[in-house]
Amino acid sequence: MTPLDVEWVREQFPGLSHRQDGQSVAFFDGPAGSQVTRSVGDAVRRYLLETNSQHGGVFEVSRTSDGILEEAHRAFADFLGADNPDCIVFGANMTTITLAVSRALAQTWSPGDDIIVTRLDHEGNVSPWVLAARDAGAVIRRVDVNIEDGTLNQASYRSLLSPKTKLVAIGLASNITGTINPVREMIRQAHDVGAMVYVDAVHYAPHELIDVADLNADFLVCSAYKFFGPHLGVLYGRRELLEEIQPYKLRVATNELPGKWMTGTACHEGIAGALACVEYLASLGRHANPAATSRREAICFAFAAIQNHEQQLARRMLEGLQNLGAYRLWGIADIARIDERVPTFSLTYAKQTPLQLATRLAEVGCYAWAGNHYALSFSEAADLEPHGTLRIGLLHYNTSEEVDRVLAELDRLA
Ligand SMILES: Cc1ncc(COP(=O)(O)O)c(C=O)c1O
Repeated sequence: MTPLDVEWVREQFPGLSHRQDGQSVAFFDGPAGSQVTRSVGDAVRRYLLETNSQHGGVFEVSRTSDGILEEAHRAFADFLGADNPDCIVFGANMTTITLAVSRALAQTWSPGDDIIVTRLDHEGNVSPWVLAARDAGAVIRRVDVNIEDGTLNQASYRSLLSPKTKLVAIGLASNITGTINPVREMIRQAHDVGAMVYVDAVHYAPHELIDVADLNADFLVCSAYKFFGPHLGVLYGRRELLEEIQPYKLRVATNELPGKWMTGTACHEGIAGALACVEYLASLGRHANPAATSRREAICFAFAAIQNHEQQLARRMLEGLQNLGAYRLWGIADIARIDERVPTFSLTYAKQTPLQLATRLAEVGCYAWAGNHYALSFSEAADLEPHGTLRIGLLHYNTSEEVDRVLAELDRLA
């Protein structure tokens, strides 16, 4: 088991030393957006002050800038387990990328085709498909959720798959219940009926290793600001699909990968910062295990250490919540099933709304989130609207002391 050096980790994140009324604060808002490393901030600044240029110039600074961008494509291929950096596309954020991909794919759909979305996904992986299906005359089918443990109902999924299914949109992990979906198996089943699969890995990416080759994903998308980087979306697409499908683009823009899918001028400083966040993860892996020989291997070690630490925190949180009793947890509560969830905990309490709870926690320096977290379908299915849940999200920079602190505050509030 690879241990995590939490003290070393926390030193890399200047934002964690923020103080409120002279007291330390604890960040439980990671699912909304994480803190970034000093190296990420430095890379953004360095890019803008030292290598700022447009793409494709014949002079030195432009070449240096292009070198950084190319390295970022290689770094994200390592991060996602892709074998080709040209299959990595950068965009504004997951939502914007998904709206573009869905519009492009919809050109290949016909009236009567089926598109499958789930009742557990973030709207970013639902609305774009609903809109694109509407334009193409395709039919939206929705996979049910098991409300008791916040998992996807696999029988419902299987019953929806048919030769009419053109696309399945699923999340690797839910940003409201923390459930890790059995996506590898769901992709296999979708491929059996000839459907493509679009995977939303936004919530999963800071917690566990992504391997697009092992998943056999057709498309997979994530957002760097959820895993210690700047605000930037990242898409992986299977090479033949990225080549074959025509995105909406300008006629003067390249037809080569990856530029074909990157409309307009990219956020170069964001890409430089995102490269730095992958390098941070690799350095964390080398710190945990100096035997790492490649960047991908170092990233694998990093996630082994992250998972180990996060599961310890998750156990502590689940035990603590069981002892408190007053709160309802929406998601897997059984510690024996810890492998099926990431450490994201959605709670409700009968006597106060999630917003009231989050506000009172914020007053004592515990930063959590309230609402439906854009996981609107689950919030509706579980009858949680309009208030949603109080969401306490843990990342690898959180400590067991912070878990105890928020549990003590929850106890006080109840
Ligand atoms: C699971 C999930 N999917 C998609 C999104 C949307 O990502 P973005 O903000 O990059 O558009 C989020 C954002 O919170 C999310 O948590």
